[in-house]
Amino acid sequence: MNSWLECIGCHRRYDVTEIRYTCECGNLLSVERPVGWAQAVDRKLFDRRRGSLDPIDSSGVWRFREGVMDIEPARIVSHPEGGTHLYERESLARGVGLRHLWFKHEGENPTGSFKDRGMTVAMTQARRVGARAVVCASTGNTSASLAAYAAQAGLRALVFVPAGKVALGKMAQTLAYGATCLEVAGDFDAAMKLVTEAARQLDIYLVNSINPFRIEGQKTIVWEMLQDLGWHAPDLIVLPAGNLGNTSAFGKALREAFEGGWIDRVPRLVAVQARGANPFFRSFREQFSRRFTIEAETVATAIRIGDPVSHEKARAAIDYTKGIVTEVSDEELLAAKSEIDGAGLGCEPASAVTYAAVKNLRAAGTISTAARVVCVLTGNLLKDPDSILRDQSRLARQIIRIEPTIEAVRRAISA
Ligand code: F0G
Repeated sequence: MNSWLECIGCHRRYDVTEIRYTCECGNLLSVERPVGWAQAVDRKLFDRRRGSLDPIDSSGVWRFREGVMDIEPARIVSHPEGGTHLYERESLARGVGLRHLWFKHEGENPTGSFKDRGMTVAMTQARRVGARAVVCASTGNTSASLAAYAAQAGLRALVFVPAGKVALGKMAQTLAYGATCLEVAGDFDAAMKLVTEAARQLDIYLVNSINPFRIEGQKTIVWEMLQDLGWHAPDLIVLPAGNLGNTSAFGKALREAFEGGWIDRVPRLVAVQARGANPFFRSFREQFSRRFTIEAETVATAIRIGDPVSHEKARAAIDYTKGIVTEVSDEELLAAKSEIDGAGLGCEPASAVTYAAVKNLRAAGTISTAARVVCVLTGNLLKDPDSILRDQSRLARQIIRIEPTIEAVRRAISA
C-alpha cells in the first residue's frame, strides 16, 4: 500500500522519501493513503497480532503498521514500544462521580513517555532517508526519546532545550543515552524556531512533531486504547495539549478508525492546557477566529509552550471530534497529580491536567455521570522528581528522621 505526504492547506503531494516538514505554501504536511485503506483492514488482524511472540507484531505501534508506515519489518527501529495499560481506579472515578473512568498510562513506554510511539516511526524514516544526525527542540520527553532511539539506530543525536526548564529525570535520560544538548537561552518556542532553521541549513533530520511521521506513530495511542476497550469507543478522550502534535494525532487516528469502520462513533477529544500556557484554549474560546502566541509559564514544564507548531492540525481534530479545549491552573493540576499518585498510578505534572479537567467539567455539568471517559497519562512519575521533593509540607508529613532503635521506630509509627 503506498502513501505520500500531503499539504493540509493546498493538498499538494510529495513523495514520502522527500525530506521536508512543510509545504511550499508554508502549511504542515500529513502522511496520507489511498481512500478506503482503513476499510480494507479488518481490525481482527490487530487483535490477532496482539498476542503474537513476534516483537513487531506485538508492538503497540507496529501492530497497526498498515496505518503507520509501509516498510519491511527488518528496517524498523523499535524497542518495541506501546503495549501500555488501561487502568481503572475506583477512588479516582468516585472522586469525580463517574461510573467509567480509565487511565491509559503512556508513561509505561520504554523511555517513560508517549513520545516513543512517534519516535520509533520518525527514526525508522530517518534511516530510510539516509540521515546521519537527528535533532529536536524539546521540553525534555522528546529529547529523552530521541536520544534513546538515535543510540539504537546508530545516529548522532542533537537536542535543543530551554535552559533550566527541563525536569531532572528527562535531562538525565537525554545525557545518559549520549545526546549532545544545546541549552538555548530562551524558552521552548525560541528553541523550536532555532531548531527548524538549523535543520534546514545544516542538513540534520528534524524529528519534532512537525515531522508528519511522528504523528503516524502517535495515532496508535488511540488505536491501542480502542482495542483495550474491545473497540467500544468511549465518549471522551482527555489529553494534555502543548505543541499540539498529540491532539493532531488523536484526531487523525479517530477519523481513520471511524472511516475504516473499526469504531461506530467518534469520541470527543478534550485537549487540556495549563492556564499559564494556554494559546490553544484562547483561540478555541474565540471559535478559532484567530491564533494566539503567548509567553508561557507553568509548573508543568512539559507543556510550557506558547506558540504551538501543530495549531492547524489540532484545530481540525477538535472540529472533527466536536471536541473541547480547556485549561486548568497549576494548583488544580498539582492537586490532581497528588490524587493520581496517591491512587498508585503516578504521573508527571503535565499528565495530571487530564484529571483536573475532568473534575472541572464534571462540576460544570459538561460531563454526565454515565459518560465513559479515558484520560491519557502522557509521562511517568519519575520524569519530574523535583515536583514531589519541592513540596515541603509533604516532606514534613512523610519523612520522619529517627535514631536506629526499635523504640524510635515505635514512636514514629504510632504518631
Ligand atoms: N505530556 C507530556 C508528558 C509531554 O512531554 C508533552 C510534550 C505533552 C504532554 C504535550 O504533547 O506537545 O503533542 O501537545 N512534550 C514535548 C517535548 C513538547 O518536547 O517533550 P504535545
